[in-house]
Amino acid sequence: MKTFVQRIRSIPIFRTLRFRLASTFLLLLTFITIALGLVGTALLRSILAGQSEQALIDELAAIRGYIHFDESDGHPYWFADMSDPDEAAAVDRLQRAYVVAGEDGTIWYGTTGHAFDPMTNRSTILQDLKQIEATKTPIFKTIPGDDYGPYRVVCSILVDTVHHRNWYVALGRSLADNTQLLNRFRRYYFFLFTPVAILLCVLASWFSAGRALTALQAVEHAARDITGSNLGLQIPPRGANDELDRLIESFNRMSRRLKTSFDQIRQFSTDVSHELRTPLTAIQGQLEVALFTATRPEQLREAIENALQDVERLSNLVRALLLLSYSETGQLPIHRTRVDLSEMVVDLVEQFQIPAEAAGVHLTTPHSEIVHCDVDRTQMERVVTNLLSNALKYTAAGGSVKAWAEAAGEQARIVVEDSGIGIPASHLTHIFDRFYRVPDPNPEKGLGLGLSFVSSIVKSHGGEIHVTSEVGRGSKFTVTLPARAVTKVAVVASSTMETRI
Ligand SMILES: Nc1ncnc2c1ncn2[C@@H]1O[C@H](COP(=O)(O)OP(=O)(O)OP(=O)(O)O)[C@@H](O)[C@H]1O
Ligand SMILES: [Mg+2]
Repeated sequence: MKTFVQRIRSIPIFRTLRFRLASTFLLLLTFITIALGLVGTALLRSILAGQSEQALIDELAAIRGYIHFDESDGHPYWFADMSDPDEAAAVDRLQRAYVVAGEDGTIWYGTTGHAFDPMTNRSTILQDLKQIEATKTPIFKTIPGDDYGPYRVVCSILVDTVHHRNWYVALGRSLADNTQLLNRFRRYYFFLFTPVAILLCVLASWFSAGRALTALQAVEHAARDITGSNLGLQIPPRGANDELDRLIESFNRMSRRLKTSFDQIRQFSTDVSHELRTPLTAIQGQLEVALFTATRPEQLREAIENALQDVERLSNLVRALLLLSYSETGQLPIHRTRVDLSEMVVDLVEQFQIPAEAAGVHLTTPHSEIVHCDVDRTQMERVVTNLLSNALKYTAAGGSVKAWAEAAGEQARIVVEDSGIGIPASHLTHIFDRFYRVPDPNPEKGLGLGLSFVSSIVKSHGGEIHVTSEVGRGSKFTVTLPARAVTKVAVVASSTMETRI
C-alpha cells in the first residue's frame, strides 16, 4: 500500500529537479515570512502596551491635578473649569473609567457598570493599597472590560497632605484601539502580503530554476542524441565558469575520449579485416589453382605448403591479436618476481646469436652490472625479444646491435641500440600503433604489432618506452622501469599466454 506522500512523489512533475529547487526555495520563504509575521505581531503588541502604560501614567498625573481635598472634612472633589472646552474634555476622558476610594476601601467616586466591577471590588482595592504602600510603585493590570474590549488599568495613591490621609485611585484605558490595530496588521500581513509574496516567489523560483536548468537540459539532449555517427558531439560552454560549465566541459571531454576510442576500435577492425583477408585470399587462390590446374603430386604438395605458410601467418596474427587485447585490457597476468635484468638480456642476446650471425650483424651486450627489478620475467623477455628481433630485422649485414640493462637511480633501464636503417621522424610517433609499419620498398614480412605489444607490457609495469632514431644511422629503444613497479594489473587465470610474437 502506497502512502499518500509516496503517491504524491510518484507524480512525474514532483520528481523533477526544477520542482525540487523551486519548492525548497518556496518552503524556506514561507517559513521566514510566517516567522517574521509572528515576531512583528509580538513586537507591535509590546510597543502598543508600552504606549498605553505611558498614557495611563500621564493621565494619573493629570487626575492628581483635578482632584482636590476639602480643607475641613478632607473629602476629595473634582476641581476643574468646565467652561474651558479643553479642560472639560480632559476631565471627561479621565472619568470614563476610574475609581477613587478611601483607605478602608469605600468607593468615593467611580465609574459604574458591570464591566468595571473588577476595579470597584472592595477587597481588591484593599489588596492593591497594601501592595502599593509596600512597593511604592503603581500597579498595572488588565480587566476584561466592556463590549469594546479589555481595559488596561493603573492603580496608585493620592495623598491628602493636610489631613495626612491616603486615597486609592485607579484609572482605566480601553485597549480596543490596540486590538484593532493588531488585528488589522495581522489581516494585512497574513492574508494579503504573505499570499502575494508567496505567489510572486512561486513564479520567480519556478522561472529561475527553469533557467538554471536549461544548460543541464542541453547536456541531457546532447547525451540523448549521441549515436555511433556523431560521437564527439560538443556542447558550447556558456562562459560563466560555474558548475554547469564544468559539467559541460567534462561532458565534452568524455565525448572526445569516446570518439577517439571508437575511432581506434574502428581503425583496428578495418586493419584486422585487411590483415586477415590477405592470407585468406592467398590460400584460396593457391588451393583453387592447385585444384583446377595441378596434374602432378609435387604441384599439389607445393600448393599445400604455400597454403600452410599462410595459415601459420594467420594463426600467428590471431594469437598476437589475442595477446595484445589481453595486455591492453589489463587481463594479461603479471607475476612479478625479482629479476636481474642484465642477466636476462645476456641470455636473450645469446639466443639471438645464431640469427644475428646468419644476418651478418654483430650482436653484443656491452654492460654487465646487476640490475634488480620486480617484473614479470616472461613478459619482460617478450619486450626484449621484440626489440632485438626488430633491431636485427632492420639492420643490414655488417651492422651492429647492442643490448644491455642498467640502473639509473630509482629506475632500471633496458636499451636496445642498432646501426640499422633508422626510422624517419614523421613515423616515430606512430610506430607503437597497432599494425603500423614504416612504408618500405622492400618490406620484410611483419604484422606491425610487435611494438604495440611492447608498449602495453611496459605500461602495465608502470614504465615508459622511448625511441631515438636517425635515418641511415640507426635507432635506440630505451625502456624505463620503476625499480619497484607499482602498477597493479588484474590477474586472470590463463595458461595459454606463452606464445611469443
Ligand atoms: N629497430 C628498428 N629500426 C628501424 N625501424 C624499426 C625498428 N623497430 C621498428 N621499426 C619500424 O617500426 C615498425 C613497427 O614495428 P613493429 O615491431 O611494431 O612491427 P613489425 O616489426 O613490422 O612487425 P611485428 O613485430 O609485428 O612482426 C616496423 O615496421 C618498422 O618500420
Ligand atoms: Mg617487430
